[in-house]
Amino acid sequence: MSISFDFTGRHVVVFGGTTGINLGIACSFAKAGAHVSVASRKQENVDAAVATLTALGAQALGLVADVRDDESVGRAMARAHERFGDIDVLVSGAAGNFLAEVNDLSSNGFKVVVDIDLNGTFHVMRRAYPYLKKPGASIINITAPQSVIPMRYQAHVCAAKAGVDQLTRVLALEWGPAGVRINAISPGAIEGTEGMRRLSPQSQSGQEMVRSSVPLGRMGTTDDIAHLAMFLSTDAASYMTGTVIPCDGGGALESVKPMIEAAGQQLKAQKA
Ligand code: COA
Ligand code: NAP
Repeated sequence: MSISFDFTGRHVVVFGGTTGINLGIACSFAKAGAHVSVASRKQENVDAAVATLTALGAQALGLVADVRDDESVGRAMARAHERFGDIDVLVSGAAGNFLAEVNDLSSNGFKVVVDIDLNGTFHVMRRAYPYLKKPGASIINITAPQSVIPMRYQAHVCAAKAGVDQLTRVLALEWGPAGVRINAISPGAIEGTEGMRRLSPQSQSGQEMVRSSVPLGRMGTTDDIAHLAMFLSTDAASYMTGTVIPCDGGGALESVKPMIEAAGQQLKAQKA
């Protein structure tokens, strides 16, 4: 199936965009002709992502920044703007995750995930605002099913991503009049990602358990998420803002029991 979008010459900024789902989004925009700025903490990830984007024929800028550090996000946004001009599309997807029961979670363990996922998303959106194309910019926040489905061993992520959903809605209210749209994508189980490596057993039977919990019968791909991010950034979605859209093969409609069982097996294996 060939799906094509045209973002020729547009400036796309992806925070947490150097690996996994977010890198997949950055690559898809690059293939569609965009200039892409990607940011994350680790220089080696940033360098590798820039090499990947450049190999796709895109002009790419790599930025080392920690979303927990408001100042470092501000500096990265200013550099991205200096290089490629006003931001047409902003993706905020940096996240941290691990499995832990609340009784095994220190105050700092809870805080670190809230700091990255929720406070980080606030910093990224707030610091981008002066540089967004107004009217016309599209912001995509990457949330997760845990934002609405309570999951054992994920108290920190459930709390943080629920906050991301609400930030998405509130910013849609406040920035709508300036012509800025903000939507969130909630990916399901996406194959080959760090998130899935941390949350589900890597054995064939473990992966099968995850697959069988999805009505469409397969795990998602980074392309599935990228296609939705691109659609949301086209004029075809020009009346959409403040939405949180699952892209999960229907996974959130099923009982989450299989996913929790998978997570429980993985946590037990980690503790052994
Ligand atoms: N169970 C319980 N607590 C844990 C934990 C686990 N598996 N892993 C980390 N923590 C706690 C630490 O013990 C620490 O708390 P403490 O100071 O009270 O001991 C706290 O979390 C911070 O850990 P630290 O390793 O210092 O944080 P960091 O800033 O270096 O890394 C993480 C942040 C922990 C989220 C790390 O996993 C990360 O960088 N993740 C990014 C990639 C990722 O998670 N991808 C999947 C996205 S879905
Ligand atoms: P991933 O590969 O670990 O991606 C996380 C990215 O964020 C990395 O590029 C990482 O790079 C960066 N990052 C982490 N902490 C950061 C910080 N403090 N500041 C700046 N950048 C930081 O994970 P993934 O599985 O693809 O997940 C991507 C997104 O999808 C996340 O928002 C996650 O919650 C969401 N999601 C994933 C799934 C799934 O199936 N995988 C399902 C639902 C939702 P550095 O290490 O270089 O900083």
